[in-house]
Amino acid sequence: MELGRGAVEGLVTTASDSARLFGDTFSGRRVLVTGHTGFKGSWLSRWLLDLGAEVTGYALPPDTTPSLFTELDLSRSLDSHFGDVRDAQKVAGLIAEVRPEIVLHLAAQPLVRRSYAETPYTFETNVMGVVNLLEAVRASSDCRVVLNVTTDKVYANPETAEPFAEESPLGGHDPYSASKAAAEIVTASYRSSFFGGPGAPAVSTARAGNVIGGGDWAEDRLVPDCVRALGAGESVEIRNPASTRPWQHVLEPLGGYLHLAAMSLRDSQAAGAFNFGPDVGEIRTVGEVVELFHAAWGHGDWHAHAPDQQPHEATHLRLAIGKADRELDWRPLWGFEQSVERTVQWYRAFADGSAAEDLVAEDIAAYLCTAAQAGASWIDQR
Ligand SMILES: NC(=O)c1ccc[n+]([C@@H]2O[C@H](COP(=O)([O-])OP(=O)(O)OC[C@H]3O[C@@H](n4cnc5c(N)ncnc54)[C@H](O)[C@@H]3O)[C@@H](O)[C@H]2O)c1
Repeated sequence: MELGRGAVEGLVTTASDSARLFGDTFSGRRVLVTGHTGFKGSWLSRWLLDLGAEVTGYALPPDTTPSLFTELDLSRSLDSHFGDVRDAQKVAGLIAEVRPEIVLHLAAQPLVRRSYAETPYTFETNVMGVVNLLEAVRASSDCRVVLNVTTDKVYANPETAEPFAEESPLGGHDPYSASKAAAEIVTASYRSSFFGGPGAPAVSTARAGNVIGGGDWAEDRLVPDCVRALGAGESVEIRNPASTRPWQHVLEPLGGYLHLAAMSLRDSQAAGAFNFGPDVGEIRTVGEVVELFHAAWGHGDWHAHAPDQQPHEATHLRLAIGKADRELDWRPLWGFEQSVERTVQWYRAFADGSAAEDLVAEDIAAYLCTAAQAGASWIDQR
């Protein structure tokens, strides 16, 4: 069922209604989002602003044109700082100055293929960036919740197509996956070594699937590649059409992150490592995404990349999401088809001149509507 902005109006009509979501947790809270200039960080920052948070962002300047950060004009609505997570002094200085109560860490070098080309940079950013952040948090007496966003690729992958649960062994063939698995181990070490006592921040990690949604223009990603090819009137080249990934709309893991942060703020025992992904039945191949994307767009063509000496990328990736269901009462809300179709609608409307601000607001409103209809526990926790 298609639910637009109007449908949610009876549910969320005012700023205070909005703030009520996630149990009022974010209203007036100082929240630091690292990676706020990226795809997920821009959506997350916009949602947090709607929830009444005082958002500070820390990241490199946006590196795509267009970028969602620029389209949403986020530099005007949040306290935006450009800097490198490898710069320990700068990270520490910012946290000392802003005194965030909640830290959501998304800044990373997130691309598998770039991690083969820029390997030391990937490890420095994705591992030492986490160390720098957690050191700064250690020195802060204000921080109560830290969420380190890693990935579904943190698991050792024997390619059996079995879904990974949180207790599955960590690993990583390519440098990106290994760097994120290392970031998991670093986070767990800080939790057990430094953040166990009373008053210490509740520290979690979130391992989410491949996200789709409007406003991603990054290199080497399926949906942006399709959009670029459609814009140029070309056939899109697909590297691994038979590979499976836990695709989900970007609002799904972001809702999970916010819910986990809110729960950990109320009860630090809620913190931990969590998978956020689609239902296992909704996990599809790369080829299926492209086919549905083109069908929803109305046309489009693709061809498989000729087999050559491409760097290794995992074939099967599935996440088990039972822990998030049991412990957080979190479940995915939008299925595969709805997620792809909303993504297509977003890019089409943007290409036709709609403002990103409106398109993001419409998607958030529609997502809240689905959440309310599904009785999601975070929709009103008072
Ligand atoms: N996009 C996905 O499908 C997906 C899936 C699972 C996990 N993740 C994770 O989610 C997070 C956000 O990913 P995204 O898709 O928004 O990526 P993105 O490339 O759009 O954004 C990355 C962000 O990190 C920042 N960044 C990169 N290197 C930095 C550095 N050295 N110092 C400071 N900031 C730096 C960038 O400036 C940007 O703000 C990442 O941690 C990524 O690993 C993404």
